Amino acid sequence: MDNTINHNESLQFYLPAEHDAYRQAVFDVIRIFLPRFQWSEEADFQNNSAELITLEQTEQTWTLSMGANRSVFAVEGLDENQRRRILKQKVYALMQQYTGQKAHPWGIMTGVRPTKIVHRCLDENQQPEEISRMLRRDYLMNDEKTNLLLDVTARQRPFLLNREQAGRIVSVYLSIPFCPTRCAYCSFPSFCLPKPHLQEAYLENLLAECKAVGEALQRSGKRIQTVYIGGGTPTSLSANQLERLLDGVQRYLGGDTVEEFTVEAGRPDTITEEKLQLLHDYKAGRISINPQTFSQKTLDIIGRRHTVQQIYDVYDMARQIGFDSINMDLITGLTGETADDFAYNLEQISRLRPENVTVHTLAIKRTARLQLDEMSDMQSHIVEQMHSHLNRWLFTEAYVPYYLYRQKHMIGDQENTGYCLPGKESLYNIQMMEERQTIFGLGVGSTSKYVNTADWTLTQSSNPKDLIFYNQRIDEIIAKKIAKIEELSKIEEL
Ligand SMILES: C[S@@+](CC[C@H](N)C(=O)[O-])C[C@H]1O[C@@H](n2cnc3c(N)ncnc32)[C@H](O)[C@@H]1O
Ligand code: SF4
Repeated sequence: MDNTINHNESLQFYLPAEHDAYRQAVFDVIRIFLPRFQWSEEADFQNNSAELITLEQTEQTWTLSMGANRSVFAVEGLDENQRRRILKQKVYALMQQYTGQKAHPWGIMTGVRPTKIVHRCLDENQQPEEISRMLRRDYLMNDEKTNLLLDVTARQRPFLLNREQAGRIVSVYLSIPFCPTRCAYCSFPSFCLPKPHLQEAYLENLLAECKAVGEALQRSGKRIQTVYIGGGTPTSLSANQLERLLDGVQRYLGGDTVEEFTVEAGRPDTITEEKLQLLHDYKAGRISINPQTFSQKTLDIIGRRHTVQQIYDVYDMARQIGFDSINMDLITGLTGETADDFAYNLEQISRLRPENVTVHTLAIKRTARLQLDEMSDMQSHIVEQMHSHLNRWLFTEAYVPYYLYRQKHMIGDQENTGYCLPGKESLYNIQMMEERQTIFGLGVGSTSKYVNTADWTLTQSSNPKDLIFYNQRIDEIIAKKIAKIEELSKIEEL
């Protein structure tokens, strides 16, 4: 991307209500070019400060007009999805003209889980070359991202469950929504450590949910494949609380039959030798120790309140205790960071060699302290350079990509990718991302996803996001989950 974006922030568009069915599709494409874009009011369009977008539709052709530019395209014989996709391609082409920006790496692929599109094609026995052509032709993706998608999905394939397995094998996620302080960029639902009695009540209720769900799963013959404790920062619990939690997980959630147990330790300032030893004793095979960056200056700016030295110290401690599966999260695009800073981060990863490294691209959401308006337009350009560094780095290192997702409001139109040393893929990350396994979410704000094995569609339900509300409604929450497990096992029996 080049700097022409600066001159185009003033571009305004107005879409009349009669085209509401296509509002989101057009919006998503304009946002690729103008990340701060919002629709204009009718009055702006009447004052000539906004361009009018219209869509004339006949059975044979559609005519898209954006201001003075027009695009006419044939739609005869196409279904609604195909028509919508061509419309997005045309909006994309007109936006390139308007902004003077070069092509974007992901083209018009705006969904969160692009890998799912590829898996559906692979289910139909389409060949990788055919899928690659389709991604470039229909979604206008570039070669690099197309290859990345094919690489990730090929690596995931052996881990995906078939329909029969998906009927009886599930995973469980537990949420510890506490953090010592709030990082400036973060939009995850977590609370700076609440009062001790609230934490205690939460732990008791989470353990009750864990027990009830574990027992119901056992009654209905389901096997738990993976358990993931995330957050927030699970290690912000005291050692005593952590031990009670780990004991409950071991007791109620499958014990030794679980294939993978991950605890997202996360912030180095919450990790102690005692807690690491507990995690190891209770057989958490995977942990995360997340630097985000190895620059002290940036850590201070984003409010992570730990030192770079703490990252190294905690990592060494974990290795000494015997952990052989450690993940480290990095973020590209953090405020004030240059491409050289990121290259330095990668050097540190090369030196430490964690089994997994997850590279997130900064996404700015409304609920974060850091806001999009505060980001310089150069940040997109820098993120692009960071990803070029990453690609060169990967070329010389043994890490391979094994899961990937995109988010709205990402800086520089990139993605989040999980890399691993070969054979060190996290099963949970794959199952959670590809949505071919039922995952029970326990605790505040967690989402349960129930897979319909007939067509891989999903139904979801979420626990309350509010801690007090969760604590008050725990009996009802548990009863609802048990009823769901019983309903699922009846469906499987049919
Ligand atoms: C739920 S957080 C939990 C991790 C743990 N609390 C920590 O901070 O180390 C998971 C990861 O999401 C990433 N993340 C959070 N907010 C983000 C954002 N706005 N943009 C990009 N990545 C983000 C960070 O890399 C973080 O480690
Ligand atoms: S990034 Fe991690 S530690 Fe920071 S606020 Fe978010 S969940 Fe908490």
